[in-house]
Amino acid sequence: WPFFAPYIYEINRLKAEKNAVILAHNYMTPEIFHCVSDIAGDSLQLAIEATKVEEEVIVQCGVHFMAETSKLLNPQKKVIIPDEMAGCSLASSITGADVRAMREAYPDVPVVTYVNTSAEVKAETDICCTSSNALKVVESLNVPRVMCIPDEYLARNVQKQTDVEIITYKGSCEVHERFTPEELREYRENDPGIKIIAHPECPPNVLDEADFSGSTSAMINWVKDNQPAKVMMVTECSMSDNVAVENPNVEFIRPCNLCPHMKRITLPKILASLHSMQDEVTIDPAIAERARLPIERMIALNN
Ligand code: 13P
Ligand code: SF4
Repeated sequence: WPFFAPYIYEINRLKAEKNAVILAHNYMTPEIFHCVSDIAGDSLQLAIEATKVEEEVIVQCGVHFMAETSKLLNPQKKVIIPDEMAGCSLASSITGADVRAMREAYPDVPVVTYVNTSAEVKAETDICCTSSNALKVVESLNVPRVMCIPDEYLARNVQKQTDVEIITYKGSCEVHERFTPEELREYRENDPGIKIIAHPECPPNVLDEADFSGSTSAMINWVKDNQPAKVMMVTECSMSDNVAVENPNVEFIRPCNLCPHMKRITLPKILASLHSMQDEVTIDPAIAERARLPIERMIALNN
């Protein structure tokens, strides 16, 4: 912590000087999540909050698709990400051409795209979803069949909850696909009182072993509301670190898996980005115009 203090002080000072706001995803490390972020949340909350920002500069502490979403919703503002190499295995699993090919294979079937995608992919999409509203978005379309892309596991987890037929794509999260039902069962056998909560990017047979599944913020709220004696959060490691601070009576049992992309965002890089106003997120205006619509449709559904 003494090592972090000068960064925290200087980032908060520069934020005010540059009229900047820091939006941070729930997977940021505790010194970012608790000490320099102005708004922290899951992907849906960050997208909604991005529509309300008054500051001139948005510093997105998360991965690149999240910064693109903020830029799409704030074309006039400067959006910067402390490391533009912070990607996502789901976002890199699919291109705009792949979506066009799926539309040819399934004409007249609407495309629901996870926000964990590039602006180019969103531009080919009817409506976006996040892990917290995927079921609601799919059912809002009132059709018998939808494509739900690119996360195969999220799509299959939604399929278990709806009669709408869901066409999937072969994308996956490199962090959540590593969890197995066997390891969860082993933890429960060794510790029968433990509560296990998991993110819907995990394979369906992993969610079958969980007591609750939801978006990152839904998982945080579940712990706050239920105050279990022991909990295992089947997701990225920083979640337990962040939530543990606010729930001193709950024991957090790891394992967890690290997202190497999220972990590219550090205090020194945030400070450097505030000094240099880099890496700035830019999107081809022709793509941006089309990519904004599916995000706005999703947000309208949540209002
Ligand atoms: P949430 O929308 O639940 O925050 O998920 C985003 C993400 O990238 C999880 O891996
Ligand atoms: Fe992408 Fe998975 Fe990292 Fe989330 S945890 S940003 S889905 S790679």
